[in-house]
Amino acid sequence: MKIITDPAKMRKFIANEKARGRKIGFVPTMGYLHKGHLALIRRAKRENGIVVMSVFVNPAQFGPGEDYTKYPRDFKKDARMAKKEGVNAIFYPAVKSMYLPGHSTYINVEKLSGHLCGRRRSGHFRGVATIVAKLFNIISADNAYFGQKDAQQAVIIKKMAEDLNIPVEIKTIPTVREKDGLAMSSRNAYLNKKERYEATALFKSLSLAKKMIKQGERGSRKIIKTIKDFISKNSSARIDYVSVADLGSLKEIKALKGQVLIAIAAYFGKTRLIDNVILEV
Ligand code: PAJ
Repeated sequence: MKIITDPAKMRKFIANEKARGRKIGFVPTMGYLHKGHLALIRRAKRENGIVVMSVFVNPAQFGPGEDYTKYPRDFKKDARMAKKEGVNAIFYPAVKSMYLPGHSTYINVEKLSGHLCGRRRSGHFRGVATIVAKLFNIISADNAYFGQKDAQQAVIIKKMAEDLNIPVEIKTIPTVREKDGLAMSSRNAYLNKKERYEATALFKSLSLAKKMIKQGERGSRKIIKTIKDFISKNSSARIDYVSVADLGSLKEIKALKGQVLIAIAAYFGKTRLIDNVILEV
């Protein structure tokens, strides 16, 4: 497994592999790998000739007061895990080689970035879209893999690739969970014992919502209230938002119809966790 830090060298590596006729699968990450990341790698391995993973904690997607400096990092462990999964190359650039002094071009995926998490984390998706576009330009992949855990991110990246004619297929992979239902996340490492236990309320409340919908409930107000009540009753979390939205536009809907995204963000202590389910109604 190659570890490449220089963007020009990375581009060369890709060009060589392409010249040999290999299909490139790309898995962008911020490292501190868990089984959710590994699911993306495994899928990429199955569908491509080689797999490239990036590890880059992208400062542009963290707001002031967010956890950029304390975001968990363990590159040695990430490299070991990636090698075991058969990753062919890791792109591990320094911040200064991705954002040269005077960097001034940013990508804003309008409308979609304003909903859900975008309403609270202003500038977050601008940072995500910018770094992913830069990575796509360095690693010109056939397929790129994203997790449904960050459903809004996946929708935004798909739209960006389409709007900017980036020739890559975006694939979304189902959320990988702990045994008790908590969605795997690098940020789970921040949780203390009590918070970790209470964090299962997110998945449990989504499961409750799913059940209500299966039994015929179509009103989003009632679903949102049920989720909020469940979380308040079963944890001391501070809810950021609970949203029922159309998966295509990410706009909130009153009555459930079509592909529906039910998404939650909540703080357990200082840690902001997100989770969601997608339903066909
Ligand atoms: P990161 O949080 O490291 O996640 C990398 C990829 O793994 C994302 O596509 C994310 O949706 C996916 N992922 C995370 N947890 C998952 C889980 N439990 N199940 C399935 N997939 C999961 O998302 C980012 O990094 C960054 O924003 C990035 C796209 C790399 C841009 O900086």
